[in-house]
Amino acid sequence: MENRRIRIFDTTLRDGEQSPGASLYPEEKIVLARQLERLGIDTIEPGFPASSPGDFRAVQEISRMLQRTEICGFGRAVKSDIDAAVNATRDANRRRLHLFLSSSQIHMDFQLKKSREQVLQIARDMVAYAKQFVDTIEFSPMDATRSGDEFLYEMLETVIAEGATILNIPDTVGYALPEEYGNLFRRVRANVRGGDRVEYSAHCHNDLGLAVANSLAAIAGGATHVEVTINGIGERAGNCSLEELAMAIATRGQDSGLSTGIDASQIYETSRMVSRIMNLPIAYNKPIVGRNAFQHEAGIHQDGLLKNRSTYEIMDPERMGIPRDMIVLGKHSGRHALKHRLERYGVTLGEAELARFTEQFKEEADACKVISDAHLLRILDKTPGGGAG
Ligand code: KIV
Ligand code: ZN
Repeated sequence: MENRRIRIFDTTLRDGEQSPGASLYPEEKIVLARQLERLGIDTIEPGFPASSPGDFRAVQEISRMLQRTEICGFGRAVKSDIDAAVNATRDANRRRLHLFLSSSQIHMDFQLKKSREQVLQIARDMVAYAKQFVDTIEFSPMDATRSGDEFLYEMLETVIAEGATILNIPDTVGYALPEEYGNLFRRVRANVRGGDRVEYSAHCHNDLGLAVANSLAAIAGGATHVEVTINGIGERAGNCSLEELAMAIATRGQDSGLSTGIDASQIYETSRMVSRIMNLPIAYNKPIVGRNAFQHEAGIHQDGLLKNRSTYEIMDPERMGIPRDMIVLGKHSGRHALKHRLERYGVTLGEAELARFTEQFKEEADACKVISDAHLLRILDKTPGGGAG
């Protein structure tokens, strides 16, 4: 089996920051960038240097601060953007430039208002311009998944000829289906002249809830870099979520020889920091980091978990730095779970007392939905023969 280390490219501080209302001050970006390095990210895209003096400064300071992580300078295929990205990342230990230019007909007609020939010329000139300053050049044909193959190949051949080293194939509007997206990578790799000299990267948006599935399909199709954000934040419905992708690879990818450099124990902390600093709450049912992701309410599940956690858990939450005991007590809880929780408070009930306690508990749970531990102990006081004192 071939071992493949997938490179994780984090764009929380660039594409993620494009989540409405999530704008960051440079100091906040610096704090988050430090945590992203701790998490084991391979490449960080800390912002869009040409977009504002604050973003320029953030990218510059992060470039000076991080030692291990590659820094990505991002910009349009425009000289002034390239200059800003080159200057902001100048002091980085390792860096790449990331240029984008639309390749779909709808973008060329309505956004760029340019012909195919003009767009190809821009791609050629701007990659050649950037290559004078930086060796590692990532190029993104924006809206690639709605571009015709023929023009997409032509654009990619053009940028490879000028020195692009990483081809990122963005699903800009989250339109692709997994099989389609994986096959697009296979076709590009097979048909683009010079395509065997470059590396491939996936960049998925989540408009149809498929960003993680599409990223995994891209990996199967030959991508070795994946662009993600913490908590899946980003434009509209967001980007591929780092924690979901990393844990999908950690949990299932070993069968196919896949791994990442992510330190899973930092996932929960990073997720909470991003949520807090960017003021973006996390949905309760969000996989991996949502409040309910490792909580179990059904009595049968709780009973199974207490016997062996693998009955209803495919991952150990502690591995991601998530506090372990997440059994929620409510009307679905069974006797076994109640007994177990009471034992934590030094209370051991006999069979008859436990039956009475469970009856009382169910009545109150019907009224309250969720029963806290403090409430549990109050019920105990009310139960004949069960009083804690
Ligand atoms: O979604 C997108 O197309 C992008 C590119 C600029 C890479 O974010
Ligand atoms: Zn994007």
